[in-house]
Amino acid sequence: MVGMNVVQASNTALVQSQPLVAVFFGGTSGIGHYTLRALATAEANGGKGFRAYIVGRNTKAAEEIIAECHGICPQGQVKFVQTDDISLIQEVDRVCAEIIQLEEKENQDARIDYMMLSQGGSIFLPRKDTKEGIDVTMSLMYYSRMRAIMKLLPLLLKSTLPAKVVSVYAAGFEDKLYPEDLSLRDLTHYSYSQARSHMIYMHTLFMETLAEQHRGKLSLLHIFPGLVLGPGFDNPDLPTWFKVLWRWIFVPLLAPLVTVPPTECGDRMLSLASLRYPPQAVDSSESQEEAVVGTDGRHGSGVYSLSRKGESNYNKKAYQKINKEEMRRKVWDHTMSAFEVIEAGKVFTD
Ligand SMILES: NC(=O)c1ccc[n+]([C@@H]2O[C@H](COP(=O)([O-])OP(=O)(O)OC[C@H]3O[C@@H](n4cnc5c(N)ncnc54)[C@H](OP(=O)(O)O)[C@@H]3O)[C@@H](O)[C@H]2O)c1
Repeated sequence: MVGMNVVQASNTALVQSQPLVAVFFGGTSGIGHYTLRALATAEANGGKGFRAYIVGRNTKAAEEIIAECHGICPQGQVKFVQTDDISLIQEVDRVCAEIIQLEEKENQDARIDYMMLSQGGSIFLPRKDTKEGIDVTMSLMYYSRMRAIMKLLPLLLKSTLPAKVVSVYAAGFEDKLYPEDLSLRDLTHYSYSQARSHMIYMHTLFMETLAEQHRGKLSLLHIFPGLVLGPGFDNPDLPTWFKVLWRWIFVPLLAPLVTVPPTECGDRMLSLASLRYPPQAVDSSESQEEAVVGTDGRHGSGVYSLSRKGESNYNKKAYQKINKEEMRRKVWDHTMSAFEVIEAGKVFTD
């Protein structure tokens, strides 16, 4: 377990090391908001300043968060990039183009040092395809996130940290995998839990290819944040059975025992920018023993599957059941093919 003293110390060191440029997809609520607030708080105590971009739908929430951050750290800059629906890949492209334009217009040192992907809060919904042909839940938690990384790569690769990408979802909960039906088009395969399993495998396998392509320049982290009570649990789209269980059993009886307080969550998420999670070394013989174990079982291998306390929770058993090399290629080809088809204005049907 990474202790809170280590977390705080690494956040202080981070903000004192350089001005930070951060992007928060899903920054208008919950974990994205808590992490931005942690950044503003750390910066207010001797940081070198920051620029942040928050992406979400809710303009009022964004304005309140910007005012809150300004109150905590007046020298920080926070800009809102509004979207109506980031589950659409073409909308991810538009949003990323806007971020690049805003960042490059005003800054000679345009870059992104830290990117958080936490869009999408609704769980346990039945399959529903976007007009582009991807299940909405799977797009929010996987496809739209990987597309955002791909589109923002030019700025991520300019980071002076080097860049950290943190995807907040369900690392470590891999279960069954249907290699011939990655999109889960066969409805007998589809359930929320099954979709979650696919999205987790695909996170690891897609990220491993990216890390290999950008050795020394990019750390990619997928984390299960623990239970963090926030506005996401009041989402009216959640199924009725979940809302009842949640309100009458979970919150009164269990929540005090198992939840992660928002401030701790934000601090922990920010601390993932630390040296404990380095990119894959350019020279593979280079020792990174002090780093966390990555998804290939080696210390500091650039892709990390993490528990809420920032330790590796890599699900070795799940990956021993598959041909990882072959699945890595398959997931890359599948995902890139979805992006190409949709970019060409067609509907993805694979
Ligand atoms: N909180 C937990 O206990 C927990 C536990 C495990 C995993 N997770 C996962 O962690 C992630 C973040 O959780 P959270 O609690 O921070 O969720 P949250 O409070 O519901 O925040 C979700 C964010 O995603 C944005 N979003 C959702 N749908 C969108 C869409 N179609 N287009 C654009 N933006 C959209 C929301 O924007 P607007 O509010 O502006 O609409 C909001 O900023 C989720 O993927 C969740 O499944 C959370």
